[in-house]
Amino acid sequence: MIHLPNRSACDLLGIAPDLLLGRPLAEIAPQMASLLADASQSNHKIAQTQVTVMRKDQARTLLVRVTAEADGYKGGMGGYVVTFDDVTDQLRDQRTAAWADVARRIAHEIKNPLTPIQLSAERLQRKYVREIVSDPAVFSQCTETIIRQVGDLRRMVDEFSSFARMPAPVFKSENLHDIIRQTVFLQEMGQRDVTFETRLPEHALKMVCDGRLLAQALTNLLKNARESISARIEDGDKSPGLIQLTLQSAEDQVDIIIADNGRGLPEDADRLVEPYVTTRAKGTGLGLAIVKKIAEEHGGALLLANGRDGGAVVTLRFAADYLEKQATNEPERDKRAAE
Ligand SMILES: Nc1ncnc2c1ncn2[C@@H]1O[C@H](COP(=O)(O)OP(=O)(O)O)[C@@H](O)[C@H]1O
Ligand SMILES: [Mg+2]
Repeated sequence: MIHLPNRSACDLLGIAPDLLLGRPLAEIAPQMASLLADASQSNHKIAQTQVTVMRKDQARTLLVRVTAEADGYKGGMGGYVVTFDDVTDQLRDQRTAAWADVARRIAHEIKNPLTPIQLSAERLQRKYVREIVSDPAVFSQCTETIIRQVGDLRRMVDEFSSFARMPAPVFKSENLHDIIRQTVFLQEMGQRDVTFETRLPEHALKMVCDGRLLAQALTNLLKNARESISARIEDGDKSPGLIQLTLQSAEDQVDIIIADNGRGLPEDADRLVEPYVTTRAKGTGLGLAIVKKIAEEHGGALLLANGRDGGAVVTLRFAADYLEKQATNEPERDKRAAE
């Protein structure tokens, strides 16, 4: 029976205090209840474990500790104190750090042999294709396959190393319109199946950020949107692809919203930002992990949702503090400092 739920316990469980009071723990959190027995049986009257609870459709990991209190009179067990912390983000950060280490090693080991493999295949093709008499078509097909696959591998390895290296941001004042236009332009090039629509506010927005990293984040998101559209088309729904990028600033935040009409996010969407979580055959699962890291380094966040018409809506949200203030008293202060 629960006697004294405190506020943060209720918040962590996502249940109002009056709904907790007087109810058996087994009903509220069955995974925690088995710990009570463990605690009373253990020598130190303490038991601890991790449990996963669902809160607002999100799986959260709680580190739960139970202390059994001896009841002096009867020599039996008195009450229990159950304490818990939400360690979801901590665990995620630990996993990300471990994966970054793995990525660094993989990138290093795989990258080196790629160039000689590619050069050799190209050379075979160039020098010997004329000498093959039995089946030149198959010969060409094989060498082309090697070259193409090496290209795929190289792209994956590049993603590994950019995740492993992740340079610390270098903050400068950048024009968001310019960064967005350039990034969209590069993604638009060389492909006709998808239309890009960009909606930017009329007044220029300057943000203190690392322009290169921000462009990388946008590129990853646009690439995912394109791939999701291709997947939808391959599944048989051939309606034309559309990616809409909107930049909007409100009082306290700046949003870059990328909406596509692809196949939509898979289930368990909150795990997608973890490294190596992918649903694509050629995916590395690093794209969103990189975006999330970049967003956080700019005091921002990455929000994933599905739109009303089925596609994904991905939002990069930054605090408006990072926006450059319109010329007010800031330059004045700088001038004085320089004198
Ligand atoms: N715009 C999107 N629409 C649908 N699913 C998406 C979208 N962006 C990301 N995803 C899902 O998230 C997963 C992880 O994405 P990401 O981290 O970029 O890795 P990768 O692209 O290598 O799979 C993808 O495999 C896909 O299932
Ligand atoms: Mg990706």
